[in-house]
Formats: sequence, C-alpha cells, structure tokens
Amino acid sequence: MKISKICLAAIMTVACMVATLVLFENAALSQSAMPTNPTDAGKRVFQRGNCMGCHKWHGNGGGGYGGDALSLRKTQLTREQIIETVSCGRPGTGMPFFVRGSYDSVQCFDMLRKDAGDLMPPEANVFLRPSEIEAVADYVIAHIKGKGEPTYDECIAFFSKGSRVCNVYKAEDHSAGAEQTKKAAQ
Ligand code: HEC
Repeated sequence: MKISKICLAAIMTVACMVATLVLFENAALSQSAMPTNPTDAGKRVFQRGNCMGCHKWHGNGGGGYGGDALSLRKTQLTREQIIETVSCGRPGTGMPFFVRGSYDSVQCFDMLRKDAGDLMPPEANVFLRPSEIEAVADYVIAHIKGKGEPTYDECIAFFSKGSRVCNVYKAEDHSAGAEQTKKAAQ
C-alpha cells in the first residue's frame, strides 16, 4: 500500500516534469515560428541612427541638418558601398561616419584624420556596430533603393500606426493640392 503510494507520487512527479518540458518546448517553438520581417532590425537602425533625420523616412532625402542628403531611392550604390558609406561617412559632405574610431584607429578610403583634413566628415550622434550597419544596408536595399516615389502604403508600413505624416500621400493621384501639401511637408 505504502509502496504504491510512493510509486504514484514518483510517477506524478515524472509526468509533471515531462509536461513542463513539453510546455517549454512549445513556447520556444511558437516564438521562433512568429513571423518576423528580416529587415525589421535594419529599420530600427535607420530610426535609431537618425538616417531618417537627413534622408527622411522614405529615403528621398531633402534638406536636413547635414545638408541635402542624396536620395537613397535613386542611389546606385551596392550593398558593400552602402556599408562603406555608412561606416566611414563621405569626406567633404555632411554624411557622418558611424563606426567608432573611423579615421583614427580604422582607415577610411585609405585615410586617417590627418589625411582627410578639411574633408573630414562629421561623427554620427550614435555609433553603430558592423552587424547593425549590415542590417541598415539590407533595409535600404529591400525597402528604399530603386523604389520610385514614396507611396501611402509605404508610409503606413514605416510608421505602423495610422500616422498623420502619411495623410499627404493619400490623395496623391487625385488632386494637385495634395502634391503641394506633400512638397511643403518635405
Ligand atoms: C546628418 C545628416 C545625415 C545622416 C544622419 C545620415 N546621412 Fe546619409 N547622407 C547625408 C548626406 C548629406 C549625403 C550626401 C553626400 C554627398 O553629397 O555625396 C548622404 C549620403 C548617403 C549615402 C550615399 C548615397 C549615394 O547614392 O551616394 C548613403 C548610402 C547614406 N547616406 C546612407 C545613410 C544611412 C543608412 C544613414 C543612417 C545610418 C545615414 N545615411 C545618415 C546625410 C546624412
């Protein structure tokens, strides 16, 4: 009698452990099966690095505090070149460098700070790790480069929630007024 009680307790314990394990495994599985966009990380870098401060959310650029940023929609640069531009900035322009130590401990375009002289590009407000720079380059290639004019759908996708910023893209094709509002908002 006693023995079977102990047995029962042991069996319950084991069953309980197995059940817990299965639960954990399921949780892990459902987490990894969650649909995630591979360029989400790059989008976060685009926001955190304030690329959008100068290039705008749509990448078409405009007058930012670093001067007129070139259009990333019209860029001809390859992934490698985008990575280099973000890492090292662009000498003689307002495009800042995002890798800590660029032109000091790391040569950029074969230059150190003393070689760059007056052409020394500004230092970004935040430094990015190489993996983050690769992510933002992938984001630019997937969502911005070669995309033509920005659309309402792209705007909503960028800001996720219904953002008033996007209203100017709404009536785009229907009225010249919307086009003007859009120009003013840029
Ligand atoms: C302070 C403003 C500023 C910030 C912040 C900034 N850029 Fe720029 N960027 C510029 C300017 C200005 C240029 C144009 C350089 C030139 O005239 O050649 C440029 C050029 C570029 C180019 C070269 C485009 C081409 O076709 O030659 C790329 C790529 C680029 N930026 C990507 C980025 C990314 C990605 C970020 C964020 C990690 C970023 N930029 C942040 C101002 C900025």
